[in-house]
Amino acid sequence: MSKICVIGAGTWGMALARMLYKSGHKVVVWSALPEEIDQLDKTRMQKNLPNMIIPSGIEFTKDIAQGCRGKDILLFAVPSVYVRNTAKIAAHFVESGQIIVNVAKGIEPDTLCTMSEILEQEIEGVPVVALSGPTHAEEVAMDLPTTIVSAHEDESIAQKVQEVFTNPVMRVYTNTDVKGVELCGAFKNIIAIASGISAGLGYGDNTEAALITRGLAEMERLGLKLGCHPNTFSGLAGMGDLIVTATSRHSRNNRCGYLIGQGYSPEDAIKQVGMVVEGINAIPAAMKLAQMHSINMPIVFAVNDIVNNGGSPEDAVHDLMGREMTTEIPKPIIDLDHESVLISSAKDYPNGEEGIKRVITYGTFDRLHYGHINQLRRAKALGDYLIVALSTDEFNWAEKHKKCYFTYEQRKALVESLRYVDLVIPEENWEQKKTDMHKYCIDTFVIGDDWKGKFDYLKDEGVEVIYLPKTPEIG
Ligand SMILES: NC(=O)c1ccc[n+]([C@@H]2O[C@H](COP(=O)([O-])OP(=O)(O)OC[C@H]3O[C@@H](n4cnc5c(N)ncnc54)[C@H](O)[C@@H]3O)[C@@H](O)[C@H]2O)c1
Repeated sequence: MSKICVIGAGTWGMALARMLYKSGHKVVVWSALPEEIDQLDKTRMQKNLPNMIIPSGIEFTKDIAQGCRGKDILLFAVPSVYVRNTAKIAAHFVESGQIIVNVAKGIEPDTLCTMSEILEQEIEGVPVVALSGPTHAEEVAMDLPTTIVSAHEDESIAQKVQEVFTNPVMRVYTNTDVKGVELCGAFKNIIAIASGISAGLGYGDNTEAALITRGLAEMERLGLKLGCHPNTFSGLAGMGDLIVTATSRHSRNNRCGYLIGQGYSPEDAIKQVGMVVEGINAIPAAMKLAQMHSINMPIVFAVNDIVNNGGSPEDAVHDLMGREMTTEIPKPIIDLDHESVLISSAKDYPNGEEGIKRVITYGTFDRLHYGHINQLRRAKALGDYLIVALSTDEFNWAEKHKKCYFTYEQRKALVESLRYVDLVIPEENWEQKKTDMHKYCIDTFVIGDDWKGKFDYLKDEGVEVIYLPKTPEIG
């Protein structure tokens, strides 16, 4: 049994207070609003959870010192805009050995701090765990099975919170990627607003699925830039919470978007929802982070335009659909996937997005010999990732008037077997080199010096062009 003070008596705070009490913990609830405490104590009902009876064993207090004293866990459950102030108030009474658990979802717009970071700044000396996932208070209040993530860099601390919050209707997973968990929690609300706007405009399931999927891609792009783990985005705090928030009737962010799509002004939509709409609060931070890190977040930008600049939802959809055509997963990323971890420690190259220097060379590589292998070894030494564009049989025959001993497939298999070579692509014509430089994000083009000067034109594509002398032993 743990002793817990729930700080904040809103919808989530009260649903969690009841759940924790029912699973055997001693629970006291504090709120910054004394009248709220009186009301809750008297009615044993939270206004947004009319079907939930607050058990008589849950205590209420207006005294923060009494709330914090002697507790194992201080559960911060106030909306993100109140987290810093509430932390300042509680800080005087926090005792060593306590664990702070935060459930607010947001990023502070001026400092760009996550909620845990704010709590760590305001309350020193105790660990702060982020608890986040697909968890509507309305359903937790009804004991419907729910999952959540307990995130702390020190897994053993995340596990302590996991143990306290686990019960037959709440399954808790741990994750050490705190930043990823918190970014997901904050920014999925913006995507949920977009999803609501789409429903309000009368669009269907296809549009909703597109917004969820591409919204997640935006969040992940930003998260990776900030050092978060990619799996967090496909986990409960990422995809899980995004699905629930973007599709559920319980979601205020979704509802707020729906009203905007129906023609309400953002201000009226927020008033109509009547509770905190964290997605609206999260927009400025998302905009700042996207700008600082040059991340394209078209759905977030569109929501910002509608909410903050008076943009029309119809125009936003038109603009989103009419953007430049692009690929879902760039080819080099697919092929790199298994190696990216190995290479990620590579130095930062000025134009290298992931710090990987990509080198390409072209050739037939028929009857692979020492000279070829040595050339490939030296090419690989110029970077981290070597792509070989191998002439196809058709290209050899039609353009080089050459018939190889080995077929393209045989030559490809052999070249692929060399440890210097990371990827083999077909060379089908002379002209493809220019486009290859961009398609495969090439930094350096390498070829034997018997071609000296012939490919200087590729420098205009922003790549370094190197003519390697033939292997001396071969002459
Ligand atoms: N509701 C959910 O289902 C749910 C689920 C997961 C996470 N969350 C997150 O939890 C946080 C709280 O959400 P909620 O649904 O409980 O919101 P809410 O709007 O119900 O919370 C309002 C509560 O905030 C507190 N409050 C009001 N003014 C305050 C002030 N000036 N200073 C300090 N506290 C004040 C009061 O206790 C009030 O009842 C949000 O960040 C939300 O994203 C909510």
